[in-house]
Amino acid sequence: MCGIVGYIGERQAQPILLNCLGRLEYRGYDSCGIAVLSSGIEVYKDAIRVEALAKVAPQLGGTVGVGHTRWATHGEPSQLNAHPHCDCSGNIAVVHNGVVTNSQSLKKQLTSEGHNFVSETDTEAIPHLIEKYYDGNLEEAVEAALRDVDGSYAIIVLAAGEPRLVAARKDSPLIIGIGDRENFIASDVPAILDYTNRVIYLEDGDIGVITKDNIKVRRNGTEVDRKEHEILWSIEDAQKGGYEHFMLKEIHEQPRVIRDTLGEWVSIGEPAVDLAVMMRTGLEALLLLACGTSYHAALIGKYIVEELVGIPVRVELASEFNYSGQTLVKTGAIVITQSGETADTLKAVKRLKEVGCQVLAITNVVGSTASRIADQTVYTRAGPEICVAATKSFIAQLMVLYWLVMSYSKAEARRLASLLTELRHLPSKVQQVLDNEDTILECANYLSRYENMLFIGRGINFPVALEGALKLKEISYIHAEGYAAGELKHGPFALLGGDTPVVAILAHDNTYEAMLTNIKEVKARKSPLVALAEEGDEAIGELADFVITVPRVDAIFSPVVNSVALQLLAYYIAKQRDCPIDFPRNLAKSVTVE
Ligand code: G6P
Repeated sequence: MCGIVGYIGERQAQPILLNCLGRLEYRGYDSCGIAVLSSGIEVYKDAIRVEALAKVAPQLGGTVGVGHTRWATHGEPSQLNAHPHCDCSGNIAVVHNGVVTNSQSLKKQLTSEGHNFVSETDTEAIPHLIEKYYDGNLEEAVEAALRDVDGSYAIIVLAAGEPRLVAARKDSPLIIGIGDRENFIASDVPAILDYTNRVIYLEDGDIGVITKDNIKVRRNGTEVDRKEHEILWSIEDAQKGGYEHFMLKEIHEQPRVIRDTLGEWVSIGEPAVDLAVMMRTGLEALLLLACGTSYHAALIGKYIVEELVGIPVRVELASEFNYSGQTLVKTGAIVITQSGETADTLKAVKRLKEVGCQVLAITNVVGSTASRIADQTVYTRAGPEICVAATKSFIAQLMVLYWLVMSYSKAEARRLASLLTELRHLPSKVQQVLDNEDTILECANYLSRYENMLFIGRGINFPVALEGALKLKEISYIHAEGYAAGELKHGPFALLGGDTPVVAILAHDNTYEAMLTNIKEVKARKSPLVALAEEGDEAIGELADFVITVPRVDAIFSPVVNSVALQLLAYYIAKQRDCPIDFPRNLAKSVTVE
């Protein structure tokens, strides 16, 4: 969602803040702004892109400042609602991620005490509260103000006459970047990778006081030690590297991502983590929880676990799970989240932990909140994913699931050995899909004029249909639905016809014949039909209007090759329609509010 940055050092803050904000664009935003401390606090903000802000903003001279990219929740995207927000005197500026849930009552109270609000945001209450409590000690004022605030926040506070920044977090990520005679604060690692790879992760309840030479973290009035981490991502990982879009680069990185994520486990045959810890005595079911694309990885995980381990798996959208009335039984849970910061997913983890569940997190971000509150964490090695639409992080999640399950599986040794061999060959199979890009591009040109599309699959490829449809709607704005092929007759048949193409996803497993029947039914209703099928599948050639072939793999791995083909299809359709592929409207990479 929103991104925040802070800089304090010896260099001019403005260009650094703008550069960091540019690196945060991928999180999604609709307005942005900066505040720099010169003789007083100078603010420049608007409902425009960072690049435009850099062009129109006056030179705000100063070596301390804060910046923000806003994704509107309270109040429309506008100049007044953009951050930073100030108190009445203009001596305190605040950037904020999260939601102040009691902002209405705070506003009422503060207004009655003479504070004048100018925006519709929940955030504006914070600088006014700090102003109310400020009597010369900024960190104490921030601490006092936050005692009145309900909800979630990551904030950075800049105050006139104070050569330091004060930062605090609760349920929203915040890191401190350590430089040489300069320090940084940011909501996300890629924001500061141009300047440093040494970071400290603040924890909920921490207050950081940062000067150019010193970092002090305290909680409940006492100073605490926070470990320094070295980030292994490089700035090149977070750049386009010659590709037109991050999405295309990230799709093409997937053979490498598979190799890195499986890493040494596959070569030495060691389990990624001891899944047995979770499957301990009495555990008869597994709960998989996630949101968005990660939820689709979880759905695929259900098929993998049920086939190779044979225990029932429940898959839940974290956002729904949090409001279900069910009693939480003691069970093992795997939460999947590329960012490690999705608010709904974190809330679910906390609920599970309260009732004594073992929670394993699969995440791409070292030090993320999910990794810190789960019992065990397995990291995907996707590297920074900048495009809002997830691609390589999804494939990396699948790799972790395959390996976790295979290392615990009770399946027959010969079957496991053959799967292991296939797993080792997956990078080259994915490369073959990428090498088929021209055919996919041709298919994209064929589909790009339609406004509605259905994706169908069965079994382990049903979630692939969901993910194919999600990718397409996210980046091309075409209305697309994923359906279990057998469900078409129960409603979506009414939509079939020449204007509604159907993309059918096949695998050579026990669903194949039923899929062919469904495809014939679709053709009989005159919908243009695109099929994703294995090489050598002759039957499909006679039925489909367009066939994208994918390499032959064991059906359990078919979601990998099929999903990569669908990622490219969505990409080229969106490109044909001239969409802002990496940063689709209204979407955010890291959804830190419920
Ligand atoms: C957002 C992102 C998606 C992601 C989803 C879940 O909607 O745009 O790409 O799949 O959040 O995020 P998570 O970080 O929990 O995987």
